[in-house]
Formats: sequence, structure tokens, C-alpha cells
Amino acid sequence: MTTIIRGGTVVNADRAFRADVLCYGDKIVAVGENLEAPHSALVIDAGGQYVMPGGIDTHTHMNLPFMGTVTQDDFFSGTAAGLAGGTTTIMDFVIPAPKQSLLEAYHTWRGWAQKSACDYTFHVAVTWWDDSVHADMGTLVRQHGVNSFKHFMAYKNAIMADDETLVKSFRRSLELGAIPTVHAENGELVFQLQQDLLKQGLTGPSSHPLSRPPAVEAEAANRAIAIAGVLGTPVYIVHVSCAESLDAIARARANGQRVYGEALAGHLVIDDSVYQSEDLEYAAAHVMSPPFRGKHHQAALWHGLQSGNLHTTATDHCTFCAAQKAAGKDDFTKIPNGCGGVEDRMSVVWDAGVNSGKLTPSEFVRVTSTNAAQIFNMYPRKGLIAVGSDADIVVWDPEGRRTIAAASQFAKGGFNVFEGRTVRGIPSTTLAAGNVVFQRGQLMAEQGAGRYIERPAFAPVSAK
Ligand code: URP
Ligand code: ZN
Ligand code: ZN
Repeated sequence: MTTIIRGGTVVNADRAFRADVLCYGDKIVAVGENLEAPHSALVIDAGGQYVMPGGIDTHTHMNLPFMGTVTQDDFFSGTAAGLAGGTTTIMDFVIPAPKQSLLEAYHTWRGWAQKSACDYTFHVAVTWWDDSVHADMGTLVRQHGVNSFKHFMAYKNAIMADDETLVKSFRRSLELGAIPTVHAENGELVFQLQQDLLKQGLTGPSSHPLSRPPAVEAEAANRAIAIAGVLGTPVYIVHVSCAESLDAIARARANGQRVYGEALAGHLVIDDSVYQSEDLEYAAAHVMSPPFRGKHHQAALWHGLQSGNLHTTATDHCTFCAAQKAAGKDDFTKIPNGCGGVEDRMSVVWDAGVNSGKLTPSEFVRVTSTNAAQIFNMYPRKGLIAVGSDADIVVWDPEGRRTIAAASQFAKGGFNVFEGRTVRGIPSTTLAAGNVVFQRGQLMAEQGAGRYIERPAFAPVSAK
């Protein structure tokens, strides 16, 4: 299949320029002015539009078994929704149960992900430690193209990694050329605060943010950064939600440490007033961790993206419906944590970031695609419009508008944290591996078309 995208402005992280883009099969084969194409080629008119690398969502949870239930979106519905929003690659998480073999969990997730409509790759969580985990990490890096390991510093009595696990896994990541990532919240402190609140009879969803104040996140971010600093590993902090964590990252980077930070589209535009709603179902639908924060934290996160102390934008897409959230109606600690967004991230970040002048279009590409590809070693296959890169492309209509609504979304769950927000800047066409999968509101996503993306280690692998 040959496709030519004509007359648009190509936007890469380093520059924007007028060019046609010719795709053959799953690759970009030419970028330049007035390109010739065979008569049989599909022509996409990008006049007045931007032509950008497809989005990479560094943080999703499709088909996730979590807190006694399973997310609404599986790898097909979730990735199809992503394509509708201009995201062409997701980075999901293999999360082994404590004592479960990492390799066994990895193969389970690979099976679930067979139905993906877009390309996907995995961070693998280290939730416990013994010699088999040490060995499995090596196998995952050397044989399965995994180069990032996730550590939940929260969720005590479930998947929380203690300090011993963090230290041993960070050290092992270093010797393998992989990057450790962390969900930074002090899980013990969260647990104790939750018990205090429940004892006081404060059982509703408004207690959720009270059990996870910014200091809880900042303590863990500082701890992870300190451990990484002592061991000499890089570290990537997922869903940075507050100014205090951002300060920890900025300080470490100023001291020469290689620390990366991820912001969620939700944390950038939604504040903690959602938890005060008298509609408890609505408040519960916003329960995620870290929680939505006060408005000044949003301003800080934008500054983080602008200053280069935050690098990627993601969603933590993790959809639960009202019936699932109702498991915690008498006890907020039992509300399954998670919200959606994979379909909306690109438009929300464009509308709130580019339309407001906070980000240039190239900076938008950097924080929605290119940095992710570089940090996680998928570049230049992903994150770039250039000859040889994957034909994962979003033709972006900067004047197109959409009012976000659960009733019209492709994602499941029946709820949208961005409900009612009108965004200016939407994908008019999404190409994934050279195929048109979304065009002017029509979704043509194909179950199983997505490919597993192997990500090589960062350094020669010499460890035993
Ligand atoms: O609330 C959240 N974020 N749920 C998904 C699991 C996680 O912590 O990333
Ligand atoms: Zn998390
Ligand atoms: Zn997550």
C-alpha cells in the first residue's frame, strides 16, 4: 500500500517544515516537497494541517487485573480508542503478582495484547525479589526486548516494592542496560493515613486525596532518586502530579543526575475539586493515584514540561465502570484506582498546551512522542517523521474541534474525566504502520494489527 500525504507542515521535535510524506508498506519512504507518487497511491490532503509522528502513550493499563477486578478496556478497545485520538503506540505494564514469575506474567500479557490495534511494548513490574527475578530480568532484556522495569512504591499488601527490592532491581537494571521506573508514593504512609481516616468514619471518596497528600509522593520520589543516585542508575518517575515531586526531579537534574518525569494529561488540566462533589459516583470515578491536585500543581507541571524537567505525557489509561467503582462505596480504599484518557491525551495537551502558547507544535511532538521514543529506545523507528521511520502518522487539524463526552467516545468505562471539555486541535487522519485507521471521525482499527515493539538495552549487555 502506498500513501502520500500532501501539502501539510511536517512537525518533528527539532523543526517544522512544508513537505509531502510518502509511505510504502509500514514505513516512510520519502519526505520532501512535490513528491511523486504512483497513480494507485492513496492521497491524503493535509493542506492547512500538521503532519506529526503518532503519539506514544508511555503509561496505559489495558486488560489489567487490579484491586479485585479487571479494567473495562482490553487491548483492542483501548488501542482503538488511542488511534482515534492520534496515539499509535502504547507502553503498557506487565504486573506480576507477588511471587509470580516475571516471565510467566510477561507471556500472559503478550497473549492478552495479541488483539492490539496499534503497536505496543511493555514495562515489566518488579513486585518482589529473589534469584529467579534477577534471572528473569536478564531474560526479558536479552531475549524479549524489555528495557524498562517498573516499581510500585505504593499499594501495600499487594504489588508494593520494598526498599530491598528497589535497590536490588535498580542495580540489576543498571547491569542490564535497562531503565528503572517508579510509581512514587510512600505506600506505608498511605496505608496508615487510610486507616486513620476510616477510623474517623471518613469513608467516602473525598478521603482519597487526604490519604495521599503531595508529601507522600515527594518522599517516594526523593527516595527513588536518592537510590538511583547512589547506584548510578537513571530513573523515570511515572505520573508526576505535584510541585514537590517536580522539585525533586529538577534538583537532581541540576546536580547532573539522569532523572526523567512523566505528566498525565489528567493531572495537567483537572484539579482536586472533583473529590468534593456531592455526587459520590462522580467523585469515585476520579479516584486514581496519585490523586488530582490543587490548581497550583497543574501550573507547576506545565512549567516542568516547558523547562524540560518533565519529558513525556501519558494517561495511565485504566478504566473502571461505575459498578466496579461501587465496590468502594462504603470504604474509599476499595475503590479501584484508575481513570481513562488514551483517546483524549493528544487533543487535551494540544488545546491546553499549544493553543495557550505554553508549547510550540515541535515541543508538543517532543512531549507526546519523541522524548518517549528516545528515553525508551524506540527512536528513530518511532517519534519521528523521516525516511525509514514507521509510518505512524497523525494528520492534525489545528482548527478542528471536538467536545469530549463519554457518550461518543470509543473507550469503554462509560465515563470520561474530560467530559464537556471542547478541544481545538484534533486528528483528522491517523495512520498506523502505513494503514489509515482513523479518518474524520470514522474508526477503522483492526483487531490484532498492532505489533509488539522490542526495545533493546541501552548498553552492551555483559552481565551474567
Ligand atoms: O490509579 C491508578 N493510577 N491506577 C493504575 C495503577 C497505577 O498506579 O498506575
Ligand atoms: Zn501508578
Ligand atoms: Zn499506572
